[in-house]
Amino acid sequence: MKLRAATEADLPAIFEIYDEQVLHGTATFDTVPKTEAERFEWLHLNPGGRYPIVVAEDGAGVAGWGRLYPWSPRPAYERSAENAVYVRATARRRGIGRGLLAELLRLAPEVGVLTLVARIVDGNPASLALHEALGYERIGLMRRCGVKHGQVLDVWLLQCVLDAPA
Ligand SMILES: CC(C)(COP(=O)(O)OP(=O)(O)OC[C@H]1O[C@@H](n2cnc3c(N)ncnc32)[C@H](O)[C@@H]1OP(=O)(O)O)[C@@H](O)C(=O)NCCC(=O)NCCS
Repeated sequence: MKLRAATEADLPAIFEIYDEQVLHGTATFDTVPKTEAERFEWLHLNPGGRYPIVVAEDGAGVAGWGRLYPWSPRPAYERSAENAVYVRATARRRGIGRGLLAELLRLAPEVGVLTLVARIVDGNPASLALHEALGYERIGLMRRCGVKHGQVLDVWLLQCVLDAPA
């Protein structure tokens, strides 16, 4: 597996992976695939150049991607970011998600992000286990906060503090 920064040329592969969850899953609460213009906007949503987007390549091309997002536009939150990780269905359980999330955790302090937050729908054991394996802790459950495919959903909030005192 090779990890590298995402480029515009990766957008079709990134969104092929993501849109499977947009349309058929609950891992994201997006419900409508982005237009081409919105995909470009998504790629360049990078205030201060601080929010990396990383792709993982295997023999078949882009097998997964991960990124940081601003947690809040309010400046005092600038040390916090939200992360996302998505792996192609046919490439799961091969360490790609772990590699992508580990890379985001490595890059985060380099861009001044010291608190990572993940929102994970209750009923996504793979993502919960991945994040907990890399040091995230559950800090709360938002009850009945979403609805998708006719199902009311709870969402776990997880946090990984990179400069927690020992
Ligand atoms: C969650 C996801 C990114 C994991 O990616 P992956 O490449 O399959 O994960 P890895 O192979 O790197 O697994 C790393 C660890 O995560 C956990 N894990 C991954 N898949 C799991 C599963 N199906 N069940 C239980 N634990 C799982 C394990 O602890 C695993 O370590 P191990 O292989 O040593 O047991 C992938 O399942 C995915 O893309 N799912 C759909 C999108 C999604 O849910 N994204 C997260 C949104 S919050």
